[in-house]
Parts: sequence; C-alpha cells; structure tokens
Amino acid sequence: MSNILVGVTGGIACYKIPTLCRRLRDKGHDVKVIMTESASKFVTPLTFESVTHNMVYIDDFKENEEPDNIYHIDLVKWADVFVIAPATANTIAKIATGIADNLLTSAVLAKPAEKPLIIVPSMNSIMYESIQNKKNLYRLSNEYGYNIVDPVVGNLACQDVGVGKLPEPEFLADTVHEKIISAGDYKDINFLVTAGATKEFIDPVRYITNRSSGKMGLAFCDIIKRKSGTLKLICSDSIKTDYNAVFVCSAEELFEKVKAYVENTDILIMTAAVADYRAAKYSDNKIKKSDSNIFLELTKNPDILKELTSYKRKQQVFVGFAAESENLQKNAMKKLMEKKLDMIVANDISRRDIGFDSSENEVTVFFADGRVINIDKASKQKIAEIILEYAVEIYRNKKKIS
Ligand SMILES: Cc1cc2nc3c(=O)[nH]c(=O)nc-3n(C[C@H](O)[C@H](O)[C@H](O)COP(=O)(O)O)c2cc1C
Repeated sequence: MSNILVGVTGGIACYKIPTLCRRLRDKGHDVKVIMTESASKFVTPLTFESVTHNMVYIDDFKENEEPDNIYHIDLVKWADVFVIAPATANTIAKIATGIADNLLTSAVLAKPAEKPLIIVPSMNSIMYESIQNKKNLYRLSNEYGYNIVDPVVGNLACQDVGVGKLPEPEFLADTVHEKIISAGDYKDINFLVTAGATKEFIDPVRYITNRSSGKMGLAFCDIIKRKSGTLKLICSDSIKTDYNAVFVCSAEELFEKVKAYVENTDILIMTAAVADYRAAKYSDNKIKKSDSNIFLELTKNPDILKELTSYKRKQQVFVGFAAESENLQKNAMKKLMEKKLDMIVANDISRRDIGFDSSENEVTVFFADGRVINIDKASKQKIAEIILEYAVEIYRNKKKIS
C-alpha cells in the first residue's frame, strides 16, 4: 500500500476524480486530496472526504485542525506519489514558472526531487494546443522531469471535438499504480554515484577545477532513490545536496573513497568530472605576487576508471562519462575499451545549450557489446532514467549468467 496525494484543479474533468480516488483505494492505496479553490466549485470537498476517508486540504492558511502541521510540506512528505488531475492550463503555467500561491502549487515546489509527480492536463483543445500551454508542458516534462499523461481525443464539455479530454479514471489508476510498482524496481541493487568537479589545490586559497555542476550525478541519485535502490554518493564538497553524501575535494581523495566503496557496489555511475592533472608541488603558503611570470608544473592524476579495472568483479556494471569537444565517437570508444566499461555516456561540450550547468543534456551511449544509442535533448532526470534502465538490464543479465 502506498500514500497517494491527488491534486485537483478547476477543470470540468473534476467530476472524474472521485472515481479515480475510489479506484486507487480499491488497489489498496491511501489517498489524500488537495483542491484548488476553483476545483471546489466543481466538486465539493465532502465528496472527496467521503471517497478517501481523509480530510481534504484547500487552504494552507486557514485555521486547521492540526496546528502543528504545515500542509504544503507535510503532505508531500507523506506522499509516495503526487498526481495532479485534472491539471488546468492555469496551474500548469504556475508550476512551469515556480509560482506557489496556493496549497497545491506550494506543495509542488516543496516536493522532494525523488518523489514522482504525475500531471494529467485536461482542457479545451484550443487551450491545450496554445503555444503557451505547449511550452509550459514541454518545460514540466523536459526541464523538470515530471511525468505527463497526455489527454485523449474525444467530445469535450464545451461541445468541441478534439484533444484535451481526461483519460478514464480506470486508466489513470492503472498508470499511477504501475508507477508505484516500478518505484521498487531497484531495491535489490547497490549503486555508487560520483558527482561534481574535483578541486586541485595549488596553495591554501587557489585551486584548479572545471565547470561540472554535479547536476547529472544528482539526477541519477533522484531516480535511484525513487526506485528504492541503495545509494552511496561521493561528490565534490561544493555540491549542495540532501543526500547523505561523502564529500571529497581532489581526484586522489575521490579515488580513495571510490576504492573504499566499490567492493560493495553493483552499479557504478561515474559522473564526477575528475581533473586529469594537479599541481606538482603544493605550496603551504599563499603564493605571493611578483613582477615576473610564474610557471605551474602539473603532474598526472590517477585515471580512476582505468585503475578500477583491476578491482572490477564480473557481475559489476561500470558506467563512465566522456565530455568531448571533438571526435566524440572515437574518444568515447577508446575510453570504453581502455577502461573496460559496460557503457560510456558521451556528450558534446562544445554545445552551450546542454551539458555543463544546464538542466538538460543530449547524449550518445556506447555499449561494450557494440550498441550505440542517441538520447535526444531532455532533462538530466529523463536522461538518467533511461541510462539507468540500460545499466540495470545489463546488471540483471550478468547476474542471470553467473
Ligand atoms: C465551467 C468552467 C470549466 C472550465 N474547465 C477548464 C478545463 O477543463 N481546463 C482548464 O484548464 N481550465 C478550465 N476552466 C478555467 C479554470 O477554472 C480557471 O483557469 C481557473 O483559474 C483555474 O484555477 P486553478 O488552476 O487554481 O484550479 C474552466 C472554467 C469554467 C468556468
């Protein structure tokens, strides 16, 4: 049994949502409902209270029966899955821009990243096809990684025929239920994720680093957690995260930590951008400015993935990343072979719209068995989700064989 939070906004399809709540309860789930003020004009809170056997939440500010609670925080903490159905064009636009002016939109912003949000738009077909609405939905899906369930074509309440109709409650209940089942998909797998840029100190105040933000690695963590995998995250000390991470600074420190944790790992996702070189000599004191040029000698850092080849067990799956500005395929394939990886994810860093510090990416994945797949531009969460599916498939096949 899971906890499902249903957000209801002011669309004509509201009348279908009590049935959705019933179907979810029939499947054994506990259901709580947040309504917008507009939604409460279409269906009364009493209807939802009757079908869910829980109180209905509309207003964050009203004197509530549970004074210790802050609803927009507590409800998303309680929920395993958050579904918004129907989602009006208005609420979709608010979510796309981060507006939090009612309980429902505030709850969306307060939702921990690893919890799935399913959004089911429903409206008149001209509204649905409007550029504004299309752009907003694109953003929700591709930039924020939310799950959109497309409306279907049919007779609309406004007597038009077109796209915009809410799918039937039975179909929606199955969709939500499947999401919950797949949430446990990785519960038998130990993941080790590295993320962010290493820092190589030259003196106590200066260091060499790179542009990696760690967002790709954190996107992997979100999906692993969402699917109940066991996660160990080793990341740069400049990354802010709620995950219980081991923080490191230099490539050597990262290597030490990876060596310590890799034994107990089934799938290693090595997104950290590791400096190839460090200062040959660290100065204990701040290097003073002088009139002449100074030369910095660099020495090679360990190539972590290459070094790890001697630690790798047959059943383990290692996924590497290659940020390339030229000869993407050739360089990625070389790394894949040399480092005995199962998969390498290559991205073209010469493009400004994707990659470093962006919330989107577009990658090519090369596999040890010769397969090559392209993943079109999408949110880093979507990309992480696809890559993990491949990595887990390889891991499960290896386990079957051994
Ligand atoms: C009779 C009626 C039906 C409506 N149906 C829809 C609808 O299906 N989808 C939609 O996006 N907006 C619909 N609207 C407009 C929304 O109710 C309106 O944009 C409202 O501000 C939405 O508020 P909310 O997003 O906070 O729930 C309808 C309005 C009325 C009066």
